[in-house]
Amino acid sequence: MLIFSRQADLSAHLKSVSTPNSTIGFVPTMGALHAGHLSLLEESLKNNDFTVISIFVNPTQFNNPEDLEKYPRTLDADVEKIEKLNSDIIVFAPGVADIYEGETVSTHFDYDGLENQMEGKFRTGHFDGVGTIVKRLFEIVKPTNAYFGEKDFQQLQIVKKMVEKHHLPVNVIGCPIFREANGLAMSSRNERLTPEERTNAAVIYKTLKEAKTRFGTESAKQVADWVYSTFEILPGFDLEYFEIADEATLLPFEHKTEGHKYRAFIAVFVNKIRLIDTISLN
Ligand code: PAJ
Repeated sequence: MLIFSRQADLSAHLKSVSTPNSTIGFVPTMGALHAGHLSLLEESLKNNDFTVISIFVNPTQFNNPEDLEKYPRTLDADVEKIEKLNSDIIVFAPGVADIYEGETVSTHFDYDGLENQMEGKFRTGHFDGVGTIVKRLFEIVKPTNAYFGEKDFQQLQIVKKMVEKHHLPVNVIGCPIFREANGLAMSSRNERLTPEERTNAAVIYKTLKEAKTRFGTESAKQVADWVYSTFEILPGFDLEYFEIADEATLLPFEHKTEGHKYRAFIAVFVNKIRLIDTISLN
């Protein structure tokens, strides 16, 4: 299996093996791979001549230094998982210096307001960091198709907006959320939970499913009040936000409009570990 740690080497390789007609599928990740990441790779393998995965814990998208420091880094195990899936997958695992060339800072992006909602409100600068790294990686890999999980639904919409605004020649494809058997959305951060916390965190998706049912008969405010009161009495959980929003604009739900799709979004701290999840409502 080919593993590149320098962008120049990856670019040279892709240039040498691809033709103008070949398709490159790309899955950007920060590693600590789980079945959710692997499902994106499978989608890429099915639909492209070449599949590239990047593994890079991007410092510019972390608003919390402790979160960056504690983010799991498991390159050897990740490579093993990729190899087991398909040894033709090309791995790009660069260092910070190779990507940022001395200046570890983000560019500012305008995503038509998508960046001001939810994650953007609570993680200052996060989506500038995401835009900076994803644009950089797209320029290096030059993918035909790029695969992103709906788990980070706001990120998916933001990447689509960035591609549209900068006229980047890549199709951004959203893929469904993979969950543990108890419903907890798979996340690299789950590795930092104790087994007990991991079991208890099933309540997050359970609450989203119940919110979906309630949304059929109750107002968005009633549903949100119910979610806040549920978490208030749960020990070990700290609800950061629960929001029902329009999928396209990510603006808070006001009233049902024909043809619009809505989603519930949640961010919860389980002790100090921040978890997010989302569910489609219609
Ligand atoms: P990371 O959190 O490693 O996620 C990489 C990709 O896997 C993202 O598109 C994410 O939405 C998807 N993913 C994560 N958990 C998933 C799950 N349970 N089911 C399906 N897909 C899932 O997101 C990032 O990295 C970074 O922000 C990145 C885009 C790589 C930029 O640094």
